[in-house]
Amino acid sequence: MDHFSTTRLTAERLNESHLVDLVALHLDAEVSRYLGGVRPAETTKTYLATNIAHWDQHGFGLFVLRTKDGAFAGRAGVRHLLVDDVDEIEIFYAFKREFWGQGLASEIADALTEIGLSKLELPSLIGVVYAGNVASRRVLEKSDYLLERNAIRHGNDVVIYRKQR
Ligand SMILES: CC(C)(COP(=O)(O)OP(=O)(O)OC[C@H]1O[C@@H](n2cnc3c(N)ncnc32)[C@H](O)[C@@H]1OP(=O)(O)O)[C@@H](O)C(=O)NCCC(=O)NCCS
Repeated sequence: MDHFSTTRLTAERLNESHLVDLVALHLDAEVSRYLGGVRPAETTKTYLATNIAHWDQHGFGLFVLRTKDGAFAGRAGVRHLLVDDVDEIEIFYAFKREFWGQGLASEIADALTEIGLSKLELPSLIGVVYAGNVASRRVLEKSDYLLERNAIRHGNDVVIYRKQR
């Protein structure tokens, strides 16, 4: 479960060496627009530690994504998320801007869904998206996630999608 490949991407388990790429990704205002805003390096350092701990505890989590020639493309994963006191498992993904609009998020969403529902045998997966993040909503819809409800998270309007096993 530490790594997988899709047609155009490789995914490797998060580790300390990924900090520099993740800091740069999170400092891009366009990328972070629907991720709670630009994150200073210190915040990403904490984010890295939290997500490494998630791997250690659960055996799955955040992957760093690369093109087949080894270039850092983004991050994505499967992880626990507390939603209104319910322990859910979400899929999530974020790409560097230069990689948008090529269907890569859909490719990775399908792979994460397969991992969550078939390999981990979870009963369902969710995706939580800012209501205005049309591209991400479309990614979930293309992977057959169904709109479940609207919610407010950290003061933001979000939509929750779900796919059942
Ligand atoms: C959201 C994100 C992951 C999408 O990645 P991507 O690789 O460009 O997505 P895909 O190409 O697989 O699919 C995007 C779909 O949304 C559509 N889309 C994109 N922008 C759109 C817009 N403004 N309005 C309507 N549809 C839009 C695309 O046309 C495509 O659908 P289609 O295949 O039916 O044409 C990428 O923009 C990103 O990394 N954003 C920053 C981080 C982020 O917001 N992550 C999601 C957090 S929930």
